[in-house]
Amino acid sequence: MVKTKIASLELKNPVMSASGTFGYGKEFAEFFDLGQLGAVVCKTITLKQRFGNKPPRITDTPYGMVNSIGLENNGVEYFIKTALPFLKNYDTKVVVSIAGNNAAEYGELAKILDTEDTVSAIEINLSCPNVAHGQNKCLFSQCHISSQDIVAQVRKNTKKPIFAKLSAQVSDITPVAKACEAAGADALTLINTLPALAVDLKTRKPMLGNVFGGLSGGAIKPVALKFVWEAYNAVKIPIIASGGIMNATDALEFILCGASAVQIGSANFVNPLACPEIVKGIETCFEENKIKDINELRGKLKL
Ligand SMILES: Cc1cc2nc3c(=O)[nH]c(=O)nc-3n(C[C@H](O)[C@H](O)[C@H](O)COP(=O)(O)O)c2cc1C
Repeated sequence: MVKTKIASLELKNPVMSASGTFGYGKEFAEFFDLGQLGAVVCKTITLKQRFGNKPPRITDTPYGMVNSIGLENNGVEYFIKTALPFLKNYDTKVVVSIAGNNAAEYGELAKILDTEDTVSAIEINLSCPNVAHGQNKCLFSQCHISSQDIVAQVRKNTKKPIFAKLSAQVSDITPVAKACEAAGADALTLINTLPALAVDLKTRKPMLGNVFGGLSGGAIKPVALKFVWEAYNAVKIPIIASGGIMNATDALEFILCGASAVQIGSANFVNPLACPEIVKGIETCFEENKIKDINELRGKLKL
């Protein structure tokens, strides 16, 4: 077993599902025991129900996919009534991803979730590319002040570990990473999808109803590796990697670049067994190379 630790949270292995690519786990539980995962990260929820963007919302591209779901969800109360009782049955950690229109909404969500025993940690989605804010249509995580405000508000309202999920749409990740750390984040998750446009030459139309979407999958792995390595060198809190992790080799590369855990996203659409296969692949690599502790590999990239 390759254990890992994210602040006070002990995971049986470093593999998590990535938010929005795994629902609340129900569909995947038909393929494998969710207890095989270090953690299930749920689809982002908001205070009230959201209907999301105009369809079509997903299209595939070479080495990846583009989506513009737009945070469709039934709101926190529905999530507590339906998803948590289901997830409670599995021997895994449950990470709940949250989003809001402002710091107060994030704080309110954290307060509500704080009293739920099944919730092991909260991931603060500061980087959804399909939901931009303010006059300049910025992502919260493009501004270190907004990020700091939101993380601080969540910190004030929960004792559970909190992860700040950041975007790669910045020229330098250091100010945002440090601001989240200073505001009380226990870990950083990076990266979210990258802004993209997919077109249909025959119809001369965009493939997605929302025109733009977020690119994910193998195509973004080198970008994610860069950001994980830079963030790892900028802060002391653990880094959770997301972006193009399709197999165990990808996951191990992220650990080498400083990740304490990895999230599996688009790979779930290609292979519903991707998560448990990656768990197994990491274990096999550790056994074959006589690696006893994740810290023997974590951040050991040789420059
Ligand atoms: C269809 C789809 C929906 C997503 N929804 C969310 C979401 O609700 N919240 C979130 O933080 N990230 C969301 N993401 C981003 C993923 O969690 C992940 O960060 C991103 O896809 C990069 O990882 P990947 O290349 O392994 O897919 C979504 C991604 C996809 C493909």
